[in-house]
Amino acid sequence: MNQNEESEFIGFPKVRLRRLRRTAAIRNLLAETRLSVKDLVHPVFIQEGIDEPKEIEMMPGIFRVPLKVLVKNIQELYDLGVRTFLIFGIPKTKNDKATGAYRNDGIVQKSVKTLFQNFGGKIVTITDVCLCQYTSHGHCGIIRDNVPNNDESLKVLERIATSHAEAGADFVAPSAMMDGQVKSIRNALDRSNFYNVGIIGYSAKLSSNLYTPFRDASHSMPEFGDRKSYQMPFHNTNEALNEIMMDVKEGADIVMIKPALPYLDLIYKTRQTTLLPVCAYSVSGEYSIIKAAALEGWINEDEVVMEFTTCIKRAGADIIISYHTKKIAEILNRS
Ligand code: PBG
Ligand code: ZN
Repeated sequence: MNQNEESEFIGFPKVRLRRLRRTAAIRNLLAETRLSVKDLVHPVFIQEGIDEPKEIEMMPGIFRVPLKVLVKNIQELYDLGVRTFLIFGIPKTKNDKATGAYRNDGIVQKSVKTLFQNFGGKIVTITDVCLCQYTSHGHCGIIRDNVPNNDESLKVLERIATSHAEAGADFVAPSAMMDGQVKSIRNALDRSNFYNVGIIGYSAKLSSNLYTPFRDASHSMPEFGDRKSYQMPFHNTNEALNEIMMDVKEGADIVMIKPALPYLDLIYKTRQTTLLPVCAYSVSGEYSIIKAAALEGWINEDEVVMEFTTCIKRAGADIIISYHTKKIAEILNRS
């Protein structure tokens, strides 16, 4: 018996759920999930050796920017209420050992320093810790026998994370999907007394086809093979939860699911599995898909972005990394 039949049976009035949907004011009152600018993280691509911002072809509206416009850029978002930034570097030169990734005067290190000098503790800086933008072959680790060698790569990840901490990052976010990366980095940070620097594990990073625009933008497309031997298969739920649990044990402060939209079930299950904050990364391909359809006039970009992002939060994400952060902030500030 459903509720309606039941109430008729015992003589009560019909249930009318539509009463609560009648006006926008009522709907707003009763919204169970509310997006806030404070939930959002804005990704930034800083490129060495360019003079002005360059629009990313596959991500209209998103730019690779030189260091000299970084502060102005971040200030714009700050004025909209955005407080958290994820920093990606695109270096001028690469090599097979990714040594450019841990130089003190590297592009990420300089950017983080600049942000710290200009904003201090008023913003939260997160750095992506990986090798792929810095290796000549584009893989996320040091190559032995055609695949990234796990433990050799850990040593480099430790050095990268430590150099980011030294520059003043609040959080480092290892995204290489090497086993034990959170533990290695935690130990390395502690050895250098950076015990206050947090770790956001890219814990369940699925081997997704939605990273293409990012790899194009950040010049990190692997030259040979693919990332399937380290990023995890998108078919697997238990394996994803195992990745999450490992990162928790290894000392992650925040765990992440990436991508977001096709993986709402994993976000939900992660939320039920751990008490740590859960971050979801709505990746480049999610942005591009929306943008492309919007540019054709087939969907309403603002409405779709608000719907998708609200649903990511409803699934259980506490923090959402989104290339649409600026747009969402503008919409929220208007409403
Ligand atoms: C680097 C890294 C990638 C992304 C974030 N960090 C690329 C990859 O793993 O290929 C993807 C982000 C996006 O698509 O927006 N390891
Ligand atoms: Zn990588």
